[in-house]
Amino acid sequence: MSLSRRAVLTLAGNRLVSRFVTRYGMRLGASRFVAGETLEQAIEKVKSLNRDGLLVTLDHLGESVTTREEALEATQSALDIFDAIAESGVNSNVSVKLTQLGLDIDYGFCLENMERIALKAKESGNFVRIDMEDSPRVKATIDIFKTLLKKVGKEHIGLVIQSYLYRSESDVKDLGELGANLRIVKGAYKEPKEVAFPDKRDVDENYKRLVAMHLKNGCYTAVATHDEKIIEWTKSFVKENGIPKDLYEFQMLYGVRGGLQRQLAGEGYKVRVYTPYGKDWYPYFTRRIAERPANALFILKNLVKD
Ligand code: FDA
Repeated sequence: MSLSRRAVLTLAGNRLVSRFVTRYGMRLGASRFVAGETLEQAIEKVKSLNRDGLLVTLDHLGESVTTREEALEATQSALDIFDAIAESGVNSNVSVKLTQLGLDIDYGFCLENMERIALKAKESGNFVRIDMEDSPRVKATIDIFKTLLKKVGKEHIGLVIQSYLYRSESDVKDLGELGANLRIVKGAYKEPKEVAFPDKRDVDENYKRLVAMHLKNGCYTAVATHDEKIIEWTKSFVKENGIPKDLYEFQMLYGVRGGLQRQLAGEGYKVRVYTPYGKDWYPYFTRRIAERPANALFILKNLVKD
């Protein structure tokens, strides 16, 4: 991990900084990466993305809850998203984080909450993807995913795998045998070198290796990156290997490389925009700044404008 990325993530953990940003952040720039604080606002943004030919995955922001009440509220919010999607007729699925559903409180409780969401995805003819969080939570996340995959099937539940982790190659092999629908990302957390490649080149090489493995296994793969080199490589790979268009999609984050998102959709590729909303946007927002500290300049400019 680069020094600047580590510095931003450390600074973001500071209480004074976090208080200041949560108070003024939406105005300062978080709205660039977050589609509003309410589900209604987010649905309006989804409609607009859909009009541009983009698919969406909605994420009600929140992570690391510490009480059962909060976890049950987060579960309800995820269930509500499926209803709002059905009522508004927008083209979107849902993404969730297990620490939001009580993973740090109790494994069985979290599994129950996630099961309710997975069953709702199935009943709605829709799909839920479990985001991947930091490395101490990977094993439990995969275990919950596997349990629910058996119950609702790969058409209704998917998982995220991070290419910065050494273990991911064996996880992709294992999950490929189950036909799992995977989103491959580079990984957004501060991880020690004992578990993750410290060198970005290795993360990028592993990314391509994982995408290639999963596609060659005939499994649905979401190529979630803004890295143009990897996107170009994917386009060539699918062409050379005759991978059908219904076996993969590109995914990017709301507010990041919008022009590229539209360009790919215009070229006929399936593109899905990860669209977060909600009041608890601070940790998500700081990870986006850490990925590209130049984004902080954008926020400072907004501050000066006012
Ligand atoms: P990389 O960081 O190499 O960036 C490539 C280029 O993209 C940069 O040069 C820049 O131009 C542009 N770029 C990247 N980030 C930017 C930003 N924030 N603002 C502006 N430009 C930017 N992670 C995780 O650990 N668990 C998860 O579940 C998910 N889920 C997820 C879903 C989706 C749809 C995406 C796109 C990403 C995630 N991630 C994630 C985040 C992921 O791990 C990673 O941190 C970011 O995607 C940034 O890495 P890139 O692959 O874009 O490459």
